[in-house]
Parts: sequence; C-alpha cells; structure tokens
Amino acid sequence: MTSIRRVPSAALSAAEWSALSDLCVAAFDEPWDGYWESIGPGVHVLAEHPEHGIVAHAAIVERLLYTAESVLHAGYVEAVAVAPDEQRRGLGTRVMAAINELLDQRYELGALGTGSQSFYARLGWVVWQGPTWVRQSDGRLERTPDEDGGIMVRATPATPAGLDLTLPIAVDWRPGEVW
Ligand SMILES: CC(C)(COP(=O)(O)OP(=O)(O)OC[C@H]1O[C@@H](n2cnc3c(N)ncnc32)[C@H](O)[C@@H]1OP(=O)(O)O)[C@@H](O)C(=O)NCCC(=O)NCCS
Repeated sequence: MTSIRRVPSAALSAAEWSALSDLCVAAFDEPWDGYWESIGPGVHVLAEHPEHGIVAHAAIVERLLYTAESVLHAGYVEAVAVAPDEQRRGLGTRVMAAINELLDQRYELGALGTGSQSFYARLGWVVWQGPTWVRQSDGRLERTPDEDGGIMVRATPATPAGLDLTLPIAVDWRPGEVW
C-alpha cells in the first residue's frame, strides 16, 4: 500500500534527494541539476511504496505574489511528478490532495505553473487570467508573456475575498524557472 508522508526539505536525507531527482528526471524527461537549489526550501509530499520507494512527489515553497491590489503569501507548488509506470492510478491526485490541505492551513493562495491545466482543474485550481510579470531585485517589473495562461491558482480560507484573477500578477525573480 502506497503511503503519503510530508517532509520539510531540511529533513530529507541525501538518498531521498537523489531518489526525488531520479523521479523528476523520469517523469519530466528533463535534466534536474540545480532545480532544488533554485526553488529553495519548502515542504515535500512523498508517496512511498514499500518496494518501489518514492513513486510520486510534489513540493510547496513560499513565494510572494504581487497584484495591483495586494501582496499575497502564496504556497507555490513545484515538481509534481509520478513515476512513469505508476501514472494514471490516482497517485498524482493523492499527492495534490495533501498539497491542497497544506495550502489551506498555511497560505493565502496556492499557485503553480503548468501545461497540464486539466489535471489541476479537477482539483479546484483555476487559470490566472491576467498578464504575468517578474519582479527583479531592484523592483523593476518585466513581462513574462510565455507564462500567460500557464499559471494556476487555488483559493484557500485566507484568500482575500473577491481576488480579481484578471489583474496583472508578478513574482520575485529566481534562478532557473522564474514562474
Ligand atoms: C501529471 C501527473 C502528475 C498526473 O499524475 P497521475 O498520478 O498520472 O494522475 P491521476 O491518476 O491522479 O489522474 C487523474 C486524472 O487526471 C487527469 N490527468 C492525468 N494526467 C494528466 C495530464 N498529464 N494532463 C492532463 N490531465 C491529466 C486525467 O483526467 C486522470 O483521470 P483518468 O486517468 O481517469 O483519465 C503525472 O502524469 C506526471 O507526473 N506527469 C509527468 C510530469 C508532469 O507533467 N507533471 C505535472 C505538470 S506541472
């Protein structure tokens, strides 16, 4: 039986980091060097099989999101990955259910960037409709048009009432994938 475990980044062992990188390389078919460093510390949700080890994962890191009306403490969801031979068996949904629970407990908004909108839409996520921007360390704003329509958000009990999803939205720059 596959079980779900929540682990802060600081408590992951070297073997677990390595297993997570291997899982993401296999799921995304992309190199994973430097990814964990670029997103910074957070909380990881692991789905573990007694024989196959870590078979699914998602993480939350805290990021500020800026709209014209508010600055939101967002839980930004990263590296949602299921081992290729374990996909379409509900594991991604189980991991995201645990992520949604953490978002509800701790953040003003959930956010993520994806090309698989329909997977998240079933789980209460909606596309941010406004234009996307990145905020440089000197406060300068730069448009990220390629990200428009690919950012999804999920309201939590702490989300400001009437949050307008058509407003421009910005996130602080970081190395690697900014959004
Ligand atoms: C996307 C991913 C996390 C989904 O996890 P999963 O365990 O395979 O998905 P589930 O079994 O929980 O899926 C439940 C439903 O979500 C939908 N779904 C699953 N994968 C999907 C995808 N890639 N795109 C859109 N919808 C998807 C389907 O409706 C599916 O139901 P069905 O199997 O009855 O048709 C997984 O396929 C994966 O790791 N893919 C590679 C990496 C990736 O694309 N990560 C997320 C993008 S940021």
